[in-house]
Parts: sequence; structure tokens; C-alpha cells
Amino acid sequence: MATNAEFPPYEFYEGEEIVGIDAEFAAAIAEKLGMELKIEDMAFDSIIPAVQSGKADFGAAGMTVTEDRMKEVDFSDTYYTGRQVIIVAEDNTEITGPDELVGKKIGVQQGTTGDIYATDDYGDENIERYNKGFEAVQALKQGKIDAVIIDDQPAQTFVKETEGLKILETEYVEEEYALCFKKDSELVEKVNDAIAELKEDGTFDKIIDKYIGGEK
Ligand code: ARG
Repeated sequence: MATNAEFPPYEFYEGEEIVGIDAEFAAAIAEKLGMELKIEDMAFDSIIPAVQSGKADFGAAGMTVTEDRMKEVDFSDTYYTGRQVIIVAEDNTEITGPDELVGKKIGVQQGTTGDIYATDDYGDENIERYNKGFEAVQALKQGKIDAVIIDDQPAQTFVKETEGLKILETEYVEEEYALCFKKDSELVEKVNDAIAELKEDGTFDKIIDKYIGGEK
């Protein structure tokens, strides 16, 4: 499994170990298939190349299904609905939604859908790219940028850990997460069967509840 473990609650380090929704979900899928799971941490934009070259059998990284990525990899059935949200300073009264981001400095994690969509909508010159989502949030905290666009669950974790920031109610984009595979990989169908079983028998909900449910 190729991932980028900078994305709580989907994948993050607990000590030396990579844990989170994707890590546990993938472990449960591997168990169903009688396979051994090995997790490799890498930059987010290295995941698709790793899968394409066969260095990894699949990618699990809160990865959004997009038309462009579908040209490069095959996706499993989707397993979670994500939202790109906007984080600003708590005392910011000017930016209340996507419309007010025009001409502002926007921080994103390199290669994510937040990066891709914001570059399209607001222009390359206004986008600051960071290796980790949390680095973008730190830059916002330090006043170096005006806003961060990132997925809702990591946003909540980061804002909780950082004083003086808020998530805007008006979200930016809604999307679906899936696991990615090399094109025409025989694994996809087997994994989809496992996903269906794990949803059916309650395992999937239990994993989500462990990392998200309890905090709401
Ligand atoms: N959902 C977004 C995307 O697919 C962000 C995923 C970032 N994941 C990560 N593990 N850093 O582009």
C-alpha cells in the first residue's frame, strides 16, 4: 500500500506506526484476501507513479476519484465522501466562502485535488504548495497566506491542534475517495468484493467510528 501519512484521520503516525482509517481498512481488506499488508509512506504525488510502476499494489490515501486520475489508474468502489473546505484565521471576516478567495494567497498540499481545483479557479500565481497539509496550516497561522484548502477531516484535526483558525461553513468541492490500482489490475474486483463484505458486516463503520464518529 502506497500512502502519504500526513493526513489524519486517514493515515498518520502514532509513534513509528502508520495508523488511521485507510491503514485499518486496507488491513481488513488484506485479511479478507489472505494477503499481507505492507505500508509505504511517500509524497502524495508519488503514489500514482508507484502504483503505475508496480512498486506498490495499490494506493490508499484519502484519494479522490477524478477524471484525470482515472486515465492513469483504476479505482475501487468509493468508500468515503470528502469535502474540500476552506480554513482561515478565526478573526477573518472578509473571506466567508470560495468567492472571496479571488486574488488571495491560498495554501494547499502539493498534488491534491485542493491544489488542482484551486489552481484552476484562482490561478497558479496565487497558490502556495506545501509537502504536507499541516505545513500549509502552519503558514496560515503565521499569516504568510490567507487561506488553506484541504479535505474536511484533516482540516478538523489540524484546526483543533492549532489555535486561532476556523473552517468556513461554505465548502469548496465535494468528492469521493477510493483506492487506486494499476490499470487493469486483477486486484480491483477482489478488493471491491472485500469492500462490499466489510461494509455489510459492519467492520467499515466500526473503523470510521473509531477515528471520526466519537469526536462529533
Ligand atoms: N482527497 C485529496 C486528493 O485526493 C487529498 C488527499 C491527500 N491524502 C494524503 N494522504 N495526503 O487529492
